[in-house]
Amino acid sequence: MDKYLLFTPGPVNVADTLRAAICKADICHREPDFDELLGSIENKLISLFQIRNRARYRAVVITGSGTSANEAMLSSVVGKGAILILSNGEFGERLHKTSVIHNKNTHLIAMPWGTPFDMPQIAAYLQTHKIDVVAMVHHETCSGMLNPLAQIGAMAKANAALFVVDGVSSVGAEMIDMEACNIAFVSSSSSKAIGSYPGLSFVVGRKKHFKRLKRHAAKTTYLNLATFYAFLKHHRQTPNTPAVLLFFALEQALTDILCEGVMKRYARIKARADLLREGMRRLNLDFLIEEEDMCSILTTVRVPPSVSVRDIRDRLRAKSIIIYEGKGCFSGKVFQVGNIGELSDYDIRFFLAALKDVLLTLQAEATDLVAPVRSKAATLVMLPTPTHARTKAVS
Ligand SMILES: Cc1ncc(COP(=O)(O)O)c(C=O)c1O
Repeated sequence: MDKYLLFTPGPVNVADTLRAAICKADICHREPDFDELLGSIENKLISLFQIRNRARYRAVVITGSGTSANEAMLSSVVGKGAILILSNGEFGERLHKTSVIHNKNTHLIAMPWGTPFDMPQIAAYLQTHKIDVVAMVHHETCSGMLNPLAQIGAMAKANAALFVVDGVSSVGAEMIDMEACNIAFVSSSSSKAIGSYPGLSFVVGRKKHFKRLKRHAAKTTYLNLATFYAFLKHHRQTPNTPAVLLFFALEQALTDILCEGVMKRYARIKARADLLREGMRRLNLDFLIEEEDMCSILTTVRVPPSVSVRDIRDRLRAKSIIIYEGKGCFSGKVFQVGNIGELSDYDIRFFLAALKDVLLTLQAEATDLVAPVRSKAATLVMLPTPTHARTKAVS
């Protein structure tokens, strides 16, 4: 039994098949059992991405959360060249921070959080600067916005730049056509839309680009993609001791996705998002961004007037439901509801009923708070400013 329903963009409630998968006999990561396990994960990742020319792509798996895959990409692909980071949110900013540590020649085009990129601006920048690598977050989790892979990929290609993508929160829920979008490397993690436990991440990339990585001097020991590729190629292993149990779970999660069918799974996650969004619209809630710009894994909702996001979270937690609060400039203004992992339509309806109950209760409590202030004002001095009194009492 799960203690909580995780309505977050990850971690997620995992399937029973995964719980069972980690209860396997012990194996050694320098033995053929692990080679087979890693080989199977790699094969299934290539299938997940629906890659047509399978032989042209490889996938390395890293013991570490999504950030480690991002840091592996950013520290390994640039060399002494120049990288342009496109940012429109928290995770774009994190790519920039990480790149600055490893790459002296890091450029940035930053939009306000939750704002779409200005395509002509990016095109002009690429034409006027020598850029070797363009990096972007696919699903900017802080706002829920999907960024345009095909357009940026085409611009990178037109300017002879590699395109690398943080797919941490979209892989497993959204189609990422690496071939059509000219993506050299994409990163992701085990614990979001793929539905497994936290602790593993991976990078899928074009073989020719993996091969070229050894030209660059290593900038890290643990996260050097060239080393991961060499171990994969020569031994079908990882350079360092991997979290073997998590590999079992990841392999099972990918097996489950492929058994269901990749496109069927994407459609199921989208249908769940639609159900959730329709229910929240019926509660008169507003979303931060337009639905057509959203990823299907999560919805970012504006906090209604007179209630606090902290209270919403606390009251939902008391009903065994976990949601996220907005961060940075969205702090206190939005909450986020994910719909990935082992959540059923029944769970979505349960969530909607719980949210309705919590909002009604909080709004009623806010009104009760206001009422005595108003009557006090009326009795004592007959102040003609009930609106001011209401604002003060609630804030
Ligand atoms: C788009 C994106 N990139 C990177 C990360 C960082 O991943 P992790 O916390 O697994 O290191 C996250 C986490 O939510 C994310 O949503």
